[in-house]
Amino acid sequence: MQPCCAVSVCHVFMLVLCLSAAEDFDWTKNNHGSFYYGTFPAGFSWGAGGSAYQTEGAWDKDGKGLSIWDVFSHKKGKIQLNDTGDSSCEGYYKIKDDISLMKDLRLNHYRFSIAWPRIIPTGVKSDHVNEKGIQYYDELIDHLLESNITPIVTLYHWDLPQVLQEKYGGWQNISMVNHFNDFANLCFEKFGDRVKHWITFNNPWSVAVEGYETGEHAPGMRLRGNGAYRAAHHIIKAHAKVWHTYDTQWREKQKGLVGISLSGDWGEPVDISNQKDIEAAERYVQFYLGWFATPIFHGDYPQVMKDFVGRKSVQQGLGTSRLPTFSPQEKSYIKGTCDFLGIGHFTTRYITHRNDPPGRSSNSYFTDRDLAELVDPRWPDPGSEWLYSVPWGFRRLLNFVKTQYGNPNIYVTENGVSEKMMCTELCDEWRIQYYKDYINEMLKAIRDGVNVKGYTAWSLLDKFEWDEGYSERFGLYYVDFRNKNKPRYPKASVQFYKRVISSNGFPNQREVENWKRKAVEMCSSSNQLLAADPLTSHMEMVTEIVVPTVCTLSILISAVLLMFLLRRRN
Ligand code: NOJ
Repeated sequence: MQPCCAVSVCHVFMLVLCLSAAEDFDWTKNNHGSFYYGTFPAGFSWGAGGSAYQTEGAWDKDGKGLSIWDVFSHKKGKIQLNDTGDSSCEGYYKIKDDISLMKDLRLNHYRFSIAWPRIIPTGVKSDHVNEKGIQYYDELIDHLLESNITPIVTLYHWDLPQVLQEKYGGWQNISMVNHFNDFANLCFEKFGDRVKHWITFNNPWSVAVEGYETGEHAPGMRLRGNGAYRAAHHIIKAHAKVWHTYDTQWREKQKGLVGISLSGDWGEPVDISNQKDIEAAERYVQFYLGWFATPIFHGDYPQVMKDFVGRKSVQQGLGTSRLPTFSPQEKSYIKGTCDFLGIGHFTTRYITHRNDPPGRSSNSYFTDRDLAELVDPRWPDPGSEWLYSVPWGFRRLLNFVKTQYGNPNIYVTENGVSEKMMCTELCDEWRIQYYKDYINEMLKAIRDGVNVKGYTAWSLLDKFEWDEGYSERFGLYYVDFRNKNKPRYPKASVQFYKRVISSNGFPNQREVENWKRKAVEMCSSSNQLLAADPLTSHMEMVTEIVVPTVCTLSILISAVLLMFLLRRRN
């Protein structure tokens, strides 16, 4: 979660001005208001996603080792309502059920992650490989392929084996590079005959900043000013090593692709006539997406990061920058290690310049940037506190990727919106609106010439939302976590997304409006089904617990009575 402030009244006025002035950005040819009716290029891949810890459950089953998220979520006070991912959606036991949901949506791809400690319990390959873990992913991949759904597989979606954290300090330690490479190599060996799209890391920004700087995420370390930069440095090296391993050992035979999935909010200058704000907004994006993308595409950190962190470190009285450096050999080894770029995008911020004077103890990744984040109070924010719906920011971010990194092939690996409601609600009109507008901005970006090859709705199911537990629901499918069978129910957005997929875009206004109307009509009957669910779970309890208990008790009582009667006769 990133700090941000709501805009003050005068900012609101200024933002209103900015909104109209922003249309002058001719490089995005952005026109906020108009919806573009049209279709996506043939072969465009439509998908949905999830990740291991967020959906699998079975945290201690079939030989799985502990991950840092198992340990972190079991500590009191770390997660909303002390929720854990212990059982989550029970996805581990529901391969066929979930694939039938995907088939119903007509997905072209499904994005999931492999839990490292499920297949290597201690994280160290030479210790032990867990065959049952391999079998689970084999089964998942095989069933996807049988259903004509392409697996897009992430190797690291945050669930580091706990042993590696305890022994070495996790991503603070360079030894992770080799351990991760061994794990990746094992995955290529076992699954690479069928998996052709690999993502090394999911959202390393979050791992570095929330795992090692703010401590909101596992492993919960608060190493302000250093921890995030060090973790990121090792992650970038690990990514590059795995890409080279694939390139030299597997590519020829398996003919797959290896990329990384980076997250990035768009940063828009508050005042586009103010050079300082323009630079601050650029800095925001460079410290976010550029931190990882620039080394991978150009061999080194963004100049602005080197300048700012370097200057602040000197002012702090440090001999060297808190931002680590790559040697010339490392630069050329890292540069170009990306067959496609995964982009996870959800929201946008207005950015203004702000001086954050260095202090001995107050330095952090956040203050290194010298900027403030603002939001427009008119932006819809139905769910997560950080997630405002600002579709036009998506097109700008995609154009930024095109111009900064040489127009790479892009897969949108995450995009979607949450709701906070704990009550049951399947008629998610606001999610339909979000998807409609964001997907449309992506279509405009493709028309701008950005190479977007696929889109992944985030997420297929409601699931464990990290430090927010189950309080924020991102799913196209509602999961009833109160019921131990974790039944899934389609939200209205399922019907809408299905139509987008089957039309490969937005044919015309009349049809698209119709989809929306029908989706909302259908959801009310599913809502009734869900409302009846507490009754179903009650009946299950009656058959599974009450009936056997009553039967056992009756047998016992009869036996005691019989013995009593027999004794009296004797
Ligand atoms: C990015 C993370 O990769 C994903 O796991 C999470 O669900 C979304 N952000 C939404 O917070």
